[in-house]
Amino acid sequence: MGATVSVKPIVNGEARESQVEPRMLLVHYLREVLGLTGAHVGCDTSNCGACTVLVDGEAVKSCTVLAVQADGAEVTTIEGMGSRDDLHPLQQAFWEEHGLQCGYCTPGMIVAAADLLERNPHPTEEEVRHGLEGNLCRCTGYHNIVKAVMAAAARGGAGVPAGSGGEGVNA
Ligand code: FES
Ligand code: FES
Repeated sequence: MGATVSVKPIVNGEARESQVEPRMLLVHYLREVLGLTGAHVGCDTSNCGACTVLVDGEAVKSCTVLAVQADGAEVTTIEGMGSRDDLHPLQQAFWEEHGLQCGYCTPGMIVAAADLLERNPHPTEEEVRHGLEGNLCRCTGYHNIVKAVMAAAARGGAGVPAGSGGEGVNA
């Protein structure tokens, strides 16, 4: 390992401090250093969106950001969106509407959808499709993903979680 630098993000509400190589990508930091494997690596072209996380409340493809750029930022991964006993409304809706098959794209889809609903709580179907353009799914044909996002929007409170650095649905 070459020279390292200190990075101190708040990840899913927990203050973290690590020494990382300056070239380390945020997605690798989350997965390999912090063990948060919910953000997936699905491409090497910044196209798939499987790695999407929130940085200061905004959806970001974590394969396009260096870990050091998250220094001091609030980072929220799918692990921080909800819990098994207290699902985020989008997680609940994806489950109910069968918005996933293999699940590889799902963490990124849910994080990106939370950002979308934070900015536009009542989107049209067109707006949902447009808003999730940066997230690819090989399995579902997108129909049930869009249905799930619309269902979560109708239920309300489906934006970014409180404490993620954005407005926060419960803030
Ligand atoms: Fe980041 Fe595909 S792994 S966009
Ligand atoms: Fe398999 Fe989307 S559910 S890639």
